[in-house]
Amino acid sequence: MKLVTIVGARPQFIKASVVSAALAHSCEEVMVHTGQHYDHNMSDVFFEELGIPRPKYNLGVGSGSHGKQTGEMLMKIEEVLLEEKPDVLLVYGDTNSTLAGALAASKLHIPVAHVEAGLRSYNRRMPEEQNRVLTDHISSWLFCPTQTAADNLKKEGVEQGVSITGDVMLDSVLHFLKVAKENPEKSAIYDRLGITPKGYRLATLHRAETTDGGLEAVLRIFRAFEQLPQPVVLPIHPRTRKLAEEAIQQEGFGNIQLIDPVGYLEMLLLTSGANQVLTDSGGLQKEAWFMEVPCVTLRQETEWVETLTGSWNVLSQLETEDILQKALHTIPDPSARGLMPFGDGHASEKIAAALLEQTK
Ligand code: UD1
Ligand code: UDP
Repeated sequence: MKLVTIVGARPQFIKASVVSAALAHSCEEVMVHTGQHYDHNMSDVFFEELGIPRPKYNLGVGSGSHGKQTGEMLMKIEEVLLEEKPDVLLVYGDTNSTLAGALAASKLHIPVAHVEAGLRSYNRRMPEEQNRVLTDHISSWLFCPTQTAADNLKKEGVEQGVSITGDVMLDSVLHFLKVAKENPEKSAIYDRLGITPKGYRLATLHRAETTDGGLEAVLRIFRAFEQLPQPVVLPIHPRTRKLAEEAIQQEGFGNIQLIDPVGYLEMLLLTSGANQVLTDSGGLQKEAWFMEVPCVTLRQETEWVETLTGSWNVLSQLETEDILQKALHTIPDPSARGLMPFGDGHASEKIAAALLEQTK
């Protein structure tokens, strides 16, 4: 079987790392990087650390408006597909790279396999929601991380080709957290940042919904972080950097430790060592849950509804008081963690086996 895989954004490199490893001995995989993320610490660092096959193609699309970015990807991916003639096209998640890949393949009658199918926030204003819904409806094989995801698809009349495999991000946490802990250079992250395990909180911010609120939105969030009793380490996504720097210039915020984005191994160490996570990231909410670290999600809704059980994850308005209230007064219930809703840590193998079976 010959497979073309489309990746482009940070979380996709992480997801592809475990699935590519599972596919390595049974098929020919051609990795295509759209170039959606391109800074060293948003892209190359993941290829260096995680053993992901080097992309045969880097389409160099870079940043731009949704139409420009997605359109340019669509044209360039089509050229690659015509050249490579794969049996299957594999996409991950819900970014513009996901949609462009799925659309290019679907129009050429190449079956699309979607990893992380069926997630829904039911907020159609989110570009990610548009990407997910459209990708799911043109995919032949839909690999759902949870039962909820499969149920969501059923509600939309999508049942054929759907399977529940578990979440590949659980596979990657189980594998790479151990790798990170055994690596003295990576484990030195705590000393480098002058923090001690459980003596700090970890935050990330990058959603369009957050940054669309401009400086005022970031100030409201930072005013809450400033009042927390422990320092807040904030690896800043490039989308939010300028606003974060402006906020700090304006009000100081000595409790916030703004750092460059870190590689995945350091990020896993920072997450597992945190007292609490505060984030608008999809992936980080789940990683916090996997590592039993309480999380405050700075959003109106979450696709990962399972994490809300027992208050391990709570949603917060982007308002200073609400963030503080949730961060200081939420007590997670240790008895509410039964029956791993995200699978058994072998989702990647299940996806690899299913792909082989279906293309026999
Ligand atoms: C994208 C995804 C989002 C995902 C996130 C993961 C879409 C619509 N959004 O959001 O679902 O959660 O990736 O991180 O696909 N930039 C840089 N350097 C980079 C990459 C981006 O400076 O290497 C800056 C540019 O100013 C760019 C902005 O960040 O305009 C946003 O980048 P973009 O890829 O459009 O969206 P993300 O916010 O990264
Ligand atoms: N991540 C990372 N370095 C960072 C911030 C995040 O490696 O500085 C990882 C994080 O652990 C998770 C993934 O990036 O695995 C999440 O990506 P992001 O929040 O950018 O996107 P989302 O999951 O919201 O789509």
